[in-house]
Amino acid sequence: MGWGKCVPEKVLTNDDLAAMVDTSDEWIVERTGIRQRHVVGEGQATTALALGAAREALERADADPREVELIIVATLTPDHPMPATACQVQNALGATRAGAFDLNAGCSGFVYALAMGEAAIAAGTYRTVLVIGADTMSTVVDWQDRSTAVLFGDGAGAVLLQATLEEHGVLATLLGSDGAGDELLMIPAGGSAQRASHDTVAAGLHHVQMNGRQVYRFAARMLPEATEVVVRDAGLTLDAVDWIIPHQANARIIEAAAQRLQLPLERFVINVDAYGNTSAASVPIALCEAADDGRIQPGQHLVLVGFGAGLTWAAAVLRWPTAAPEAQRAALHRIWRAWLYRWAALRTGLWRGLSRLTIWLGRLKQRGRRGG
Ligand code: ACO
Repeated sequence: MGWGKCVPEKVLTNDDLAAMVDTSDEWIVERTGIRQRHVVGEGQATTALALGAAREALERADADPREVELIIVATLTPDHPMPATACQVQNALGATRAGAFDLNAGCSGFVYALAMGEAAIAAGTYRTVLVIGADTMSTVVDWQDRSTAVLFGDGAGAVLLQATLEEHGVLATLLGSDGAGDELLMIPAGGSAQRASHDTVAAGLHHVQMNGRQVYRFAARMLPEATEVVVRDAGLTLDAVDWIIPHQANARIIEAAAQRLQLPLERFVINVDAYGNTSAASVPIALCEAADDGRIQPGQHLVLVGFGAGLTWAAAVLRWPTAAPEAQRAALHRIWRAWLYRWAALRTGLWRGLSRLTIWLGRLKQRGRRGG
């Protein structure tokens, strides 16, 4: 198993936001716990972040991209409505044997994708699955709307799942949804229900719209409920859980969940202060940070739990694997991966160049025929 994360360099602090809309650092910290968020720059799309996280996960697992058989990208902010962002990632990785698709379950997306990846491996159909949560929420929030602009950030996190006979990995998963709550958290236009038009743009219907109070209530109820059920399904009790890694939407939601579960807040991984709500990326980014800084130890039990647009919720119990690959052993493989990435970029350039040349030659031929 490997893990990786990627966030854009650009940081937007609460004070930066206070210069843009009528808000304050004090209000944002008190109501949400958020102090800053990372946001993409012009021209930086979701694929760039997903790719950064994926490469780090492959590095960590010391895996060859050509071993990957399936890539799932959980996102609600794909680069384009089509093709899938997962296909862009597949191509840039040189993962030539992988199927690839996007999955949209809002902020629960990563845990949904993890459950799908685990099921594909458990069924014996696939041995290596790359699961990514990536979102660029800064591209869909209305920067003039203080009720949503202060909440979100951009980022990506990934895990590489590999079939194993050892007693670790995903022990149980739980997925839930309630479409009756669709309007609580929605980007109304741009799909088939409300096609993009000048009017929809003028009315701001391509931005996130949210009923904050109702989503808060739903989240504060669902987070502990889903945790309790999935832990029971894994045959464990809450005492046996070392870390709960919840969706990072609001520190108050996490505090309320801790209270309801009667667990100390120290057992929760919280980094909403540094990243804001990065949607499908929030759970894997928190997982990566806790794994990288040594909080998560081999053999420990983790609960990953998310909630979001749909409405959706999802939870998974993991037993953390024992040892990561040795760095020295990986040196040659690293060179190989770097070569594969370069080749993938070159191949894409050639492919695009050739298809443009073919189109141009076709047009020239047509013109010649008309002229003759
Ligand atoms: N700065 C200053 N004041 C603000 C701001 C702001 N950024 N935003 C709202 N206010 C004001 C409101 O206008 C309101 O003023 P009023 O009393 O004069 O009307 C007051 O603050 C209180 O507003 P509330 O909405 O009641 O504030 P609340 O304490 O509920 O916090 C928040 C709002 C942070 C949005 C909270 O409701 C929340 O976290 N909800 C859940 C959000 C969430 O989890 N989203 C998940 C998304 S997941 C996905 O799939 C994308």
